[in-house]
Amino acid sequence: MQLRDELHQHNYRYYVENSPVISDQEFDFLMHELQDLEAKHPELFDANSPTQRVGSDLNNEFETVVHTRPMLSLGNTYNRQEVADFWKRVSDGLMGAPFQICCELKFDGLSISLHYEDGCLTRAVTRGDGTQGDDVTANVRTIRSIPLQLPKGGDWPGQFEIRGEILMPWASFERLNAEREQAGEPLFANPRNAASGTLKSKNSSTVAQRGLDAYLYYLLGDGIPGDGHYQNLEAAARWGFQVSKSMTLADTLDDVFAFIDYWDKERRNLPVATDGVVLKVNSLAQQKSLGMTAKSPRWAIAYKFQAEQAETTLRQVVFQVGRTGAVTPVANMDPVQLAGTQVRRATLHNADVMASLDLHYGDRVLVEKGGEIIPKIVGKAEADNSKLKNQNSKIEFVERCPVCGSTLVRYEGEAAHYCPNETGCPPLILGRIEHFISRKAMNINSLGPETVDDYYRMGLISNAADLYELKALSKSSSAENDFKSSPLGGGLAEAKILSSIEQSKQVPFERVLYAIGIRFVGEIAAKTLARYYGSMEKVAEASMESLMQINGIGEVIANSVVQYFANPDNRAFVERLRGYGLQMEIGEQQKQAQSDKLNGQSVVISGVFQHHSRDEYKALIEQNGGKNVGSISNKTCFILAGDNMGPAKLEKAQKLGIRIMSEDEFLSLIQM
Ligand code: IVH
Repeated sequence: MQLRDELHQHNYRYYVENSPVISDQEFDFLMHELQDLEAKHPELFDANSPTQRVGSDLNNEFETVVHTRPMLSLGNTYNRQEVADFWKRVSDGLMGAPFQICCELKFDGLSISLHYEDGCLTRAVTRGDGTQGDDVTANVRTIRSIPLQLPKGGDWPGQFEIRGEILMPWASFERLNAEREQAGEPLFANPRNAASGTLKSKNSSTVAQRGLDAYLYYLLGDGIPGDGHYQNLEAAARWGFQVSKSMTLADTLDDVFAFIDYWDKERRNLPVATDGVVLKVNSLAQQKSLGMTAKSPRWAIAYKFQAEQAETTLRQVVFQVGRTGAVTPVANMDPVQLAGTQVRRATLHNADVMASLDLHYGDRVLVEKGGEIIPKIVGKAEADNSKLKNQNSKIEFVERCPVCGSTLVRYEGEAAHYCPNETGCPPLILGRIEHFISRKAMNINSLGPETVDDYYRMGLISNAADLYELKALSKSSSAENDFKSSPLGGGLAEAKILSSIEQSKQVPFERVLYAIGIRFVGEIAAKTLARYYGSMEKVAEASMESLMQINGIGEVIANSVVQYFANPDNRAFVERLRGYGLQMEIGEQQKQAQSDKLNGQSVVISGVFQHHSRDEYKALIEQNGGKNVGSISNKTCFILAGDNMGPAKLEKAQKLGIRIMSEDEFLSLIQM
């Protein structure tokens, strides 16, 4: 279909070449036209149509498929000597024949194998264990830089495989984490984890929104163009694949080192994360003659960049209070150049890390920029240990909140110290307001954190209930007919904010209960409490005994609820919310009882989850009559498995033939 071809082309121009020839609106227009056509003519359905990039809300069950050719990993080296050794091994292996090395960046994402037949993407499989991986085709189709259909008439072979790396660019990563922070969701540690979590998502429309990207670096198959790996990738670039422009051919070991040195610095200006370079013998015939070891090819090697370190002097430690109340020690140091930027501050994480470093003012310390974005102090500089012990006083963790002076607390099992003054300490107050307006709470989405900060600083709000008084402030100013002088900023933005505040009055009670921010009462616990008690009044009156009878509510949550409502300030806050018309009772359709769907079943939880925390899943299992147990036995009914389930557990489950259930399967089972 012509329209499809046209859209494929624009897509390539936009996402691979970065040089669109039509405007975004024109693109959207063409896309809508195609969507309409396809809706009218379902017989024209094509999984590779450009319209399929938006993903679907259907659950993707990942099928395990065996790789046509195993996906090997690479041997790693960390120093120049090992690179020189590699060069020598290759040269000896080729008995002195001349050879070239293709130097490439090592992209830090997750590897993918793409299969094309007659120019169409037919299958995308993750590396898995190298022999078999997950079929993630539906998710991969949403990645714009991966061609679904190669331009007609190209010299691509009828069947081939191309491998590469799926990545989340820094910009998408930062945006995603900012959104997650605002929604109170756990953050991804680095772009690789974010890309991997995203690609394994059961919902391809989530993948479509997250802005993944891909670089291809390995072409395989019988009919591929020629003997040169580099030249083959050049061909792939012509067919529409995104191939890194940094790739170069080296004739000498010095060329290789020049490549390494250049990119060790320059990689910081790239839009995606890289963690080294990959060196490959260019000739496929020479690759073949060098062969493989059991795990990796003899013709390629990865050189990993060092996490950059720098040495400097520690001057001071300040303690920052975050919006959850967590207190983080931050070191102020003499400025030092590190990974392309001047660094003068580094995190010390928490009291335990600080104690283990045994820091004194004036210590020479080593700072590192690793996979994380904020530099950290990793130890003392060698020279420091050989000198006489630093006579300056040891730096201790604070006992009181540096902002409001409250005595800090440390909750069992947590590494951080917290300021407990939730209603009186400014960063905590702001944190509570942000939680209140977040998407899963009251969803006052037109109000961003900066505006909250501004309103707080201007004295317009000092807690979330004050949001419902803002309307009055706006009215008084518009009565004077002077929009600009409105303390809320005026204009359309102000109107939007006021309207979403107004709309929040319809948010169901269970989310109001979540929004008021009772410590340890997450979404699920709020839901459980709302359904059990039916109204705010009843929750507020509940005793420890009553609360602890509820499946999924343990001592910690029960105690926190009782404490919350024992505080007259909190009660007054809730009463104000009631006065403004927020939902304080459960709606009819939410009254359904909890189920006994898992009656008596033992369930093991393993892995990392996307939608809810482990504790929340534990609560859900219990609310539905099941029991969460720690280890797998023949009594286990099923395993609720997230990403990265431990290999030992997986093996045991397979041996005992126990069902492994994904998050989404589980949620649809209990119909959350
Ligand atoms: S080539 C047999 N090239 O690094 C050759 N891999 O440790 C296989 N990677 O699993 C891979 N950038 O995920 C190759 N330019 C590049 C790469 C690259 C990143 C990853 C890939 C692979 C791992 C090997």
